[in-house]
Amino acid sequence: MSNTHDRHMTRPGTSPARPSATAPRAVETLPIPAEAASDTAAPRLPTVVVSSWKGGVWKTCISASVAERLAFAGLDILYLVTDDQLDARRRLGISESDPDVARVQRGAGSITVVGLAGAHAVDVLYRSGPGRFGKFDAIIVDTPPVKKGGCLPGVLLIAPTDGDDASANLIRMLRATPSNTDVVLVRIDAVPRKEWERDATTIHDASNHAGGSYLPGPLPRTAEVREALNRGQSVWTLPRRGPTREFLQGLESLAGVAWARTRGDSTLPPLVANAASAVHIRGWDDDA
Ligand SMILES: Nc1ncnc2c1ncn2[C@@H]1O[C@H](COP(=O)(O)OP(=O)(O)OP(=O)(O)O)[C@@H](O)[C@H]1O
Ligand SMILES: [Mg+2]
Repeated sequence: MSNTHDRHMTRPGTSPARPSATAPRAVETLPIPAEAASDTAAPRLPTVVVSSWKGGVWKTCISASVAERLAFAGLDILYLVTDDQLDARRRLGISESDPDVARVQRGAGSITVVGLAGAHAVDVLYRSGPGRFGKFDAIIVDTPPVKKGGCLPGVLLIAPTDGDDASANLIRMLRATPSNTDVVLVRIDAVPRKEWERDATTIHDASNHAGGSYLPGPLPRTAEVREALNRGQSVWTLPRRGPTREFLQGLESLAGVAWARTRGDSTLPPLVANAASAVHIRGWDDDA
């Protein structure tokens, strides 16, 4: 059967030309497999991703604070910012004039902040590794509010929610989360613990993600934390009392889960006493 192209080549009244001995022959087409999407890949280094398909649910606050806590425990962390928001740098006390790849010390460890999106981030996480930025013990990824934030395989996914309609988006994100990713649900803002336990179970069941866990105590909102974040001060230097202590306890537990992924089952080294806030006077300080 002739196709359109052949018809053009055939003059009316002549029979189709036979291939001559000198006519070029097509090279046999050999198929190559397409890039396979891998839902079972493992990142090159232990990786923590903080993601929720909702804006303003403290993703950057949680990811930066967990990165700091692991650095205080002596780890060198690569902190990947996968959107163009620069607030993560500000949170970590990095100014606009600092280099694009900026490093801050926290205790014996460090945090190197790098902005990379899409395939460039995947290169560092799963393909070439982070070598060109230095040597690291773990990677922490801060994400913008997008559904694909929950799609990275083989990671520890910390997924914050503020309840309400956010849960529906969170569930849709978690349905797309690969089964080899471990999920920890976090409730921000104080709600009764029982209520959150119920919500966490509902979110978990509706997301069809096997396993998973939740942070039992919701992370409370505190003015002290908000102000520290706004001025680029580490939340770990705040006086550990009242709701700020509860907030830090929640982050400590998340850092503990992250630590276990980098250091097997050893325990997160305790936070050293904070010189500026170590003295606590009962009665007086509790009024704050
Ligand atoms: N524990 C807290 N108490 C009070 N305010 C907080 C607390 N944690 C974070 N915030 C404030 O909430 C706001 C949103 O936090 P953050 O930027 O971390 O959210 P996000 O989920 O990263 O937002 P986006 O979706 O824009 O990336 C910030 O102004 C931050 O300072
Ligand atoms: Mg953010």
